[in-house]
Amino acid sequence: MADQTSRGLSRRSVLTGGVAAVVGGGAAGALAGYAGRGVLDDDKTVDWKTVADSRVVGSATEPFHGDRQSGVTTAPQSHAAFVAFDIVPGATRTEVQGVLRAWSQDAARLTQGHGGLADLEPELAEDPARLTVTIGLGPGFFDAVGMPDRKPDWLEQLPAFPQIDQLEDRWSEGDLLLQICADDPLIVSHAARILASGVRGVAQQKWSQRGFRKAVGTDPSGRTQRNLFGQIDGTVNPTEDEVDFDQILYSDGADQRWMRGGSALVLRRIRMTMDTWEEIDRTSRELSVGRTLDTGAPLTGTAEHDPADFEAVDEVGLPVIPPESHIARARQRDRGEAMLRRPYNYDDPPEAGEISNTGLLFTAYMADPVRTYIPVQQRLAEQDALNTWTIPIGSAVFAIPPGAPEGGYVGQQLFEG
Ligand code: HEM
Repeated sequence: MADQTSRGLSRRSVLTGGVAAVVGGGAAGALAGYAGRGVLDDDKTVDWKTVADSRVVGSATEPFHGDRQSGVTTAPQSHAAFVAFDIVPGATRTEVQGVLRAWSQDAARLTQGHGGLADLEPELAEDPARLTVTIGLGPGFFDAVGMPDRKPDWLEQLPAFPQIDQLEDRWSEGDLLLQICADDPLIVSHAARILASGVRGVAQQKWSQRGFRKAVGTDPSGRTQRNLFGQIDGTVNPTEDEVDFDQILYSDGADQRWMRGGSALVLRRIRMTMDTWEEIDRTSRELSVGRTLDTGAPLTGTAEHDPADFEAVDEVGLPVIPPESHIARARQRDRGEAMLRRPYNYDDPPEAGEISNTGLLFTAYMADPVRTYIPVQQRLAEQDALNTWTIPIGSAVFAIPPGAPEGGYVGQQLFEG
């Protein structure tokens, strides 16, 4: 066995051994993909050195400076940390500005593969793997800096949804947010550490939530991700080809001039009860969403992106897509309800007596959550077949200010004008 480990897994051992029994065609398919690219030939070991040396994933970068913050329309990276802070009572406006300035300076460096300014281990920042750092301001931020009149009208915590909510303080609210995403979890951890440790005394960490999607390189690019229920999740999401992101995702500055080019983030931590989900049969699971599990096609179609026909009925006159299914309830009633969903899965250590602690860090971006998010969430709270297996346990809303100009910092526009 030790011998085999030192030589790596041969293709034959993968295909005939226990791994194949568990994952079946998946393992064969993934490895066959490498074979096509010359990394793996029949009967040879996977040449991990060649894969690693290419550093394609590690060396990729995303910009920090610009009109918009990165991390909203950026193609979702594999790993994410959402870290919220409360401003320490008595902190001055200048000190809080200092936090935003320090975060921006460090984020500008880290995203380009350089250590933070006070980084003891700058080597950890190498190979940033598309790191993005997105900074958000919660409703309490504006009182804390003595600028309540600069708070966007829509920036409030969501109203309670008593039919579904079981919110816990340890996953909810916050005055400041760091959203840190990268294709490498080490990069995420390092960035979170550097950014959080420099602001003690002014901002106190309130919660931290980690999420993941498929690892890069394991899926053909462009494929919609699956959540831990196995559903293809993210099909009906606006694309820049279809809609003007300036109109649905970004503020025009009419409410608050400094927010022009900024956005809003709604983050809901939604627990998914795997045990009871797995008790129902596949047909019932598909009916609860209104889409098939294999292709993600609507129950009235055959391919993922076929338009759903909510009027279609079966031979006995029942709607093919049940009116209480998730997509029938969530679908846009008008253009104002368009939001960009960018969810991450979580799978944390189980609580006492449980065997899993699994769910979705549901994130959605839009220009105005009162216009866009609340009506959709209200409909889902009133009726959504998925509610049987999903429980919102955390909730937070943040303003995502416009991007920082070169040499400037996120939030600068707020203090300037
Ligand atoms: C754990 C909780 C949730 C799960 C597992 C889930 C899963 C899904 C799945 C599988 C789809 C169909 C594929 C797609 O278009 O992405 C979908 C669609 C959608 N979901 Fe969710 N979702 C959850 C929570 C939410 C929440 C909280 C909202 C917003 C309040 C939401 C809004 C939407 C919207 C707008 C669509 C597109 C509907 C359409 O036009 O077809 N979802 N979701």
